[in-house]
Amino acid sequence: VAATNADTISLPPGYRWRKLIAWGDALFDGMAPFDPDALTRAEQEKRFGDANDMLALFPARYSFPWPVDQTSLILCTNNEYADPALMFPCVRAPADFNAAHWETAYAAVGISVVEVEQRGGDWRIQTNAPSDQAINRRITPFSPVVFSGPAAQHRWISAAAVKFNEAEPGAPRTVRCGTLANCSGGRTPWGTYLSAEENFDGFFALTDAAAEPLDAARADAAWLYDAGRFGYPLFSRTGVARAPRQFDVSHNPHGPSLYGWVLEVDPYDPSWTPRKRTALGRKKGECATTAIAKDGRVAIYMGDDQIDHFVFKFVTNGRFDPADRLANRDLLDHGKLYAARLDEDGGGEWLELTPEACNAAVAEAPFHAPFADLGDVVMRAREAATLLGATQMDRPEDVEAPVDSEWRGQGAVLVVCTNNRNESFPHPGNPRRGAAQAEPMQQANVAGHILRIDEAEGDHAATRFRWDVFALCGDPAAAPSFTLPGGIAADVSVSIARAPTFTGDRFTCPDNICFDSSGNVWIATDGSPAVFPDCNDSVLATSVTASAPREIKRFLVGPVGAEICGPTLSLDERAFLCAIQHPGEADIAGTNISELRWRRGQRPPSNFPDGGAAWPRSAVVVVTRDDGGKIGS
Ligand code: FEO
Ligand code: CA
Ligand code: CA
Repeated sequence: VAATNADTISLPPGYRWRKLIAWGDALFDGMAPFDPDALTRAEQEKRFGDANDMLALFPARYSFPWPVDQTSLILCTNNEYADPALMFPCVRAPADFNAAHWETAYAAVGISVVEVEQRGGDWRIQTNAPSDQAINRRITPFSPVVFSGPAAQHRWISAAAVKFNEAEPGAPRTVRCGTLANCSGGRTPWGTYLSAEENFDGFFALTDAAAEPLDAARADAAWLYDAGRFGYPLFSRTGVARAPRQFDVSHNPHGPSLYGWVLEVDPYDPSWTPRKRTALGRKKGECATTAIAKDGRVAIYMGDDQIDHFVFKFVTNGRFDPADRLANRDLLDHGKLYAARLDEDGGGEWLELTPEACNAAVAEAPFHAPFADLGDVVMRAREAATLLGATQMDRPEDVEAPVDSEWRGQGAVLVVCTNNRNESFPHPGNPRRGAAQAEPMQQANVAGHILRIDEAEGDHAATRFRWDVFALCGDPAAAPSFTLPGGIAADVSVSIARAPTFTGDRFTCPDNICFDSSGNVWIATDGSPAVFPDCNDSVLATSVTASAPREIKRFLVGPVGAEICGPTLSLDERAFLCAIQHPGEADIAGTNISELRWRRGQRPPSNFPDGGAAWPRSAVVVVTRDDGGKIGS
């Protein structure tokens, strides 16, 4: 499809789209039509959440290998954040948001689970009768969760849990901190949903810089490092001033330690309290995708999406049991956590994060506090990876291996690095840093790139790998003197050593990906209009198996001001689904919603998906072919 700034979903001929569900749609029978200005926390806890990101479809009746012919499905969706400027049409100024508005916004975040019926090209959600045992549900930052794995009893978690449970009294042995900042995630072979908590720092406020609990926390060198590294408020009054009290670090300085984890949810069993799987490490987690290794252990790949952060892998100690779904429930509590080191020669090593290795490194770097145990290592996984020499990357987002119907990979993994607008030290695997590009180009990697990792012996449990550049994002027809809309010079060439990494349609800022069974990879973008303003964020497709330069084609363009998240195919691959996140957050000139609403007094610059003069809503869309055929075949 051609580049466009149209405020709709643009598709090639022969494809059509429809909205499946959008922010505020009812999950239960008998609810009133959605009215954003009447929204309360209690209402939002029964309605689809905001800013949908990751999407995952599950067959309503599980079996392994997963059936591809079921028409009753369960959709799990991440709701990453909630911007009050895009939530309440009648509020006229930021100062008019009260505590109830903010609590409602927090309740719009987390996870939405909803039953879906697929009838050919006609997809619809199924509302449920209200019940604790309904499949449809919300998991919000107020819901109970259980911490499991090595950090479950960590001193920070224990301290913070008290404050959360004071605010939201609940069942014993659970913590009422739920989940937030849910970006991407993954599915497990045993039919659970993994949700990665990413930019949790922005949910925390600091109202009293001299508060006694904050003063006490600042005496802990590991806590100081953690606050600086994640960016939650440390010294000055900032953040969401009207956040619920448990999100105020003055009162609850260890609150941020409850986030940055991977949450495991069982979509089939609403009575099973979701688990924070601390063994997988704490970070600004983008994803948690799975591949079964040669011996039946399960590898989980994870990106830590911040400039200069890491690619992680967890390998379970136990093996996947395809005959007994529930026997796999605690596989993610025991295993090895690694961070990737990429070497100049195209090789690389997965560095295991252990207390022994970390403390040996601390002995050489005494600014760092020692690690008490494995729980401390997974809590401080970023610090551990830094100490062990893992490679700092250009914002690793999705990291995912194509797998077969038995969930086995062949060792190939794509690592999507969305961009890096800072000047940064050169590191292998980040080809636009440092001296690799000709002067006088600005060295920042504004366009992003995609790496391919090949695990040693094709085994996802390997500790060695090779890496190569799969695509250096940008414009295959780029002039050497490209300038960004802001007038700054940027390198958008797609070539390495004069050899193009791809041909076809230009794009930047790759974020989420998915694979199909025909060897294609589907790539969704986040922020591409900041580089190429003639096209909204979009979805592109190419072949994983073709050799370079492979052709990349634009398949879908989203509406104004939206990023595209959560690309996924239906089980029968006759539908493509994606999440349209934050339509109207910026206009096509790049002016953001705060400026448009509060300074210029304008409505949001998108009416997606309802059209007309409607208020914009984040939404899940379904794309099918007019002839009912497989997508992309
Ligand atoms: Fe939530 Fe890294 O995107
Ligand atoms: Ca993302
Ligand atoms: Ca992103």
